[in-house]
Amino acid sequence: MQITGKISEVRSQVKEWKREGLTVGFVPTMGYLHEGHGSLMKRARSECDKVVASIFVNPMQFGANEDLDSYPRDLEADAKLCESIGVDLIFHPEVEEMYAEGFCSFVDMNGLTKELCGKSRPIHFRGVCTVVNKLFNIVTPDKAFFGQKDAQQLAVIRRMVKDLNMDVEIVGCPIIREEDGLAKSSRNTYLNEEERKAALILSRTIRLGEKLVSEGVKDAGELVAAMKANIEKEPLAKIDYVEAVSMDDIEKVDTIGKNTLVAMAVYIGKTRLIDNFIVES
Ligand code: PAF
Repeated sequence: MQITGKISEVRSQVKEWKREGLTVGFVPTMGYLHEGHGSLMKRARSECDKVVASIFVNPMQFGANEDLDSYPRDLEADAKLCESIGVDLIFHPEVEEMYAEGFCSFVDMNGLTKELCGKSRPIHFRGVCTVVNKLFNIVTPDKAFFGQKDAQQLAVIRRMVKDLNMDVEIVGCPIIREEDGLAKSSRNTYLNEEERKAALILSRTIRLGEKLVSEGVKDAGELVAAMKANIEKEPLAKIDYVEAVSMDDIEKVDTIGKNTLVAMAVYIGKTRLIDNFIVES
């Protein structure tokens, strides 16, 4: 497995693979990898000849008061996980390599970013779209793999690829959970013992939401109210949002139906966690 921080080295390696007629799968990450990332890499491994993973904590997608500086990093452990899955190349650039002096071009999206995380993190998706666009230009993958846990991000990336005619297939992959239900996240590491227990309120509330929908609740207001009331029972939890939106345009819906995304962001202490489910039928 090759590890490089140089854009030029990624480009020449990928060009060589493409000359040989090999397909390239790409998993963009911010590192501190867990089984959720691992599942994306395994999927890429099973669908493509070569797999590239990027590890880059992208400053542009963090707001001024967010956790850029404390975001966990462990390249050695990340490299071990990648190697064990059969990743061929890790791209691990410095900030200066990605954003050279004078950088002033951005990818901005007017739709899909007004609700959910876009509402509470106003510059977040501009940063995500810009860096993912750059990474796609560097890696030129045939397929790129994203987790459903960041459901809004997945919808935003799909739309960017469609709107900008980018030649890459986006593959969405299921949420991976701890045994007790908590969705895997690099940010789970911020939780102390008490908070880790309290964080189960997210997955429990997701299960409650799914149950209510399966029992026939169609009114989005009723569903969201029941879910919020459940979260409020946990003293360490503070709701950022619970919303029901359409998966296609991330606009609020009044009625729950096929492709409704029911998503939440909840602070447990200082740690902001997200979770969601999609109504299948
Ligand atoms: O989902 C993430 O880890 C990041 O938002 C991504 C896609 C790697 C862009 O920095």
